[in-house]
Amino acid sequence: MTASPRPAASPAPVGPGHEQALLAAINLARLAPSLHNTQPWRWRVSGPVAELHSDPDRAVPIADPWGREMLLGCGATLQHARSVLAAAGWRVAVSRLPDPTEPDLVARLELVEPASPAAEEARLAEAIPHRHTDRRPYTARRLPADVLQTLQQAAEQEHAHLLLVTEPDDRLDLAALTDLANRIQIADEDYTAELVTWSGERTDSAGIPAGLVPHLEAPRHTDVPVRDFEVSRPGQLPVTGTVDEEPAWCVLFTDSDTRLDHLRAGEAMARLLLTATDLGVASCPQSQAVEVPGARVLLEARLLAGLGHAQLVLRLGWPDPDGEPLPRSPRRALSEIVQVDKDPA
Ligand SMILES: Cc1cc2nc3c(=O)[nH]c(=O)nc-3n(C[C@H](O)[C@H](O)[C@H](O)COP(=O)(O)O)c2cc1C
Repeated sequence: MTASPRPAASPAPVGPGHEQALLAAINLARLAPSLHNTQPWRWRVSGPVAELHSDPDRAVPIADPWGREMLLGCGATLQHARSVLAAAGWRVAVSRLPDPTEPDLVARLELVEPASPAAEEARLAEAIPHRHTDRRPYTARRLPADVLQTLQQAAEQEHAHLLLVTEPDDRLDLAALTDLANRIQIADEDYTAELVTWSGERTDSAGIPAGLVPHLEAPRHTDVPVRDFEVSRPGQLPVTGTVDEEPAWCVLFTDSDTRLDHLRAGEAMARLLLTATDLGVASCPQSQAVEVPGARVLLEARLLAGLGHAQLVLRLGWPDPDGEPLPRSPRRALSEIVQVDKDPA
C-alpha cells in the first residue's frame, strides 16, 4: 500500500503583518545605492507579495543607455529588502524578471512563512543606514587579505565575482581606461548636461548634493581618476586626508551579460558594500570605465582576460579617522515609491 501524500502545509493567513513586514523592508531598501542617486525603483505591495519595478522615468540615458546600471540599482534595493526580511524572520520566495512581457517588473517577492531570523542577514540589515558612498581619499593603510577575501565571498554569495586589481600593470590599465572613459564622456555635452541634472540643485530628494562631493583642488587620488561631480558647482565636503595611496581597486564581474546578470550584480554589489560597512571599510562605486563601451571591452580583455563581464569598478579602503561623519544622501519618501493594494485578490 502506498502512503498517502502528506497534505501541503497551508500558507500563513494573509494579514496586516505581511504588509507591515514588506513596508518595513522597503523603507530600508530605499537607502540602497544607485547611479547618480536616481533611485530608479517603484514597489507595489499586495498582501504577502511585493513587486519591484524599474522606473524608466529615472533613467540616465547618456551614461547608461542600456539600463544596465539601472538594473544594478534595482538589484541593490532588492538585496536590501531580502536581508531585512530574512533578519525579521521571514522565508521569502524571490522570482527575478518573472515576466518577459513586462520588462520593468524586476522581481517579485513573496512572504512564504515565518522562519528563524538569519543572523548574517541581520548584520547586513543593521549596516544599511550606515553605508555611504565616500568620495574622499582613504588612508594609506592597506586592507588586509582576510577582509578582501570576505568581500570576495560576499560577491560570490550572489553569483558574481570580485577581481582585486593588485598587479601594477593592471592598475595602470585601470587608470588609463578610466581616464580615457572620462575624456570621452566629458567631451560629450549631453553627458555633462545629464551630470549637471543629477549633481546640481534639486528639490526632489534625489541626485548628489554638493555636501557629498569633496572639493579636490589638487589631485588627491593617486592614479585612477574619479568622476568629476563639480561640473556645475564646487563640492562642499571637507577633506582632511592627503592622498589615498593604497585603496583596493576591484572589478565586480559576472559570467554572462544578460539582464538577469545585471540584476544579480546589483545584489552582489549591495551585499559586498554592506559587508564592507559592517567591517568598517569605506567604499565608492566607480562606473565610468564600464559605461564607455570601448573602455569596458578593453577592461574585460586586459584585466579579466576573458573571465567574464565587468559590471562595476569599486574603490575600497579604510576611512580617514579625522574625516567628518558623512551626511546621509537624500532619498524619496516611502509613500512616493510604494503603492499598496488595499484589496488584494
Ligand atoms: C551602478 C552605480 C554606479 C555608480 N557610479 C559612481 C561613480 O562613478 N562615482 C561615484 O562617486 N559614485 C558612484 N555611484 C554611487 C552613487 O552616486 C551613490 O550610490 C548615490 O549617490 C547614493 O549615495 P549613497 O551611496 O551614499 O547612498 C554609483 C552607484 C551605483 C549603484
